[in-house]
Amino acid sequence: MEKSRDQVQKKPLRLIAAACNGMGIGKDGKVPWCLPREFQYFLDSITRVSRPGKLNLLIWGKVCWFSNPELFPLSNVLHVVVSTKLTTTPDHAHFVTSDFESAVNLASERPLADLIETVWVIGGRQMYEEGMKHPWCDLVYLTDIMADFDCDVFFPELDRKLFVLQNRFPDVACDIQEENGIKYKFQVFKKEVDNV
Ligand SMILES: NC(=O)c1ccc[n+]([C@@H]2O[C@H](COP(=O)([O-])OP(=O)(O)OC[C@H]3O[C@@H](n4cnc5c(N)ncnc54)[C@H](OP(=O)(O)O)[C@@H]3O)[C@@H](O)[C@H]2O)c1
Repeated sequence: MEKSRDQVQKKPLRLIAAACNGMGIGKDGKVPWCLPREFQYFLDSITRVSRPGKLNLLIWGKVCWFSNPELFPLSNVLHVVVSTKLTTTPDHAHFVTSDFESAVNLASERPLADLIETVWVIGGRQMYEEGMKHPWCDLVYLTDIMADFDCDVFFPELDRKLFVLQNRFPDVACDIQEENGIKYKFQVFKKEVDNV
């Protein structure tokens, strides 16, 4: 039976990524820079919940999942890995789904609906592409790494009429950061519903 709209608990869905000049995000299955404070900002963002007991749902493409073993376990999160080929849930993950929409739906259906606060799309490219088109997507956290790196995966084009860069945003430093000689700035783009 089809679910009526009021049976579905809509959740905020957010993308989080860091991209260098040319919008590169990865090379050979890894992130091509080492910026520990930027990484900590990523961890703080995805694990932040408003009160104890709440959880965030993290959506991972398969390559991202298997290239980040150091990330487990994380507090306050459940992990869903998206893959057409995996038949069992990978170690340390909580769910596997064969498409993006099924991963998102986990957050709005029983038994998780009352627990999940925010859905975070962690990458890679196709996950970001589907995430930014999703009607629940309200924010894109995109750190601008102000340097050149050789990349083989790129962040998809962000519609800057729809997603507007915020001058200030809670919990996000607005000045230019520097680590290991690399400058970068945290950026948050907010979907302007009037521009949809
Ligand atoms: N800089 C950053 O912020 C950042 C963030 C995330 C990732 N990265 C980098 O990006 C690279 C990984 O990204 P990627 O795009 O190559 O790979 P990915 O999205 O992590 O994984 C690709 C795999 O995920 C599954 N998948 C992806 N989209 C799917 C969909 N819509 N439906 C079903 N399955 C889907 C497929 O697995 P099957 O083949 O099993 O179907 C696909 O082969 C790495 O280098 C990583 O370090 C960087």
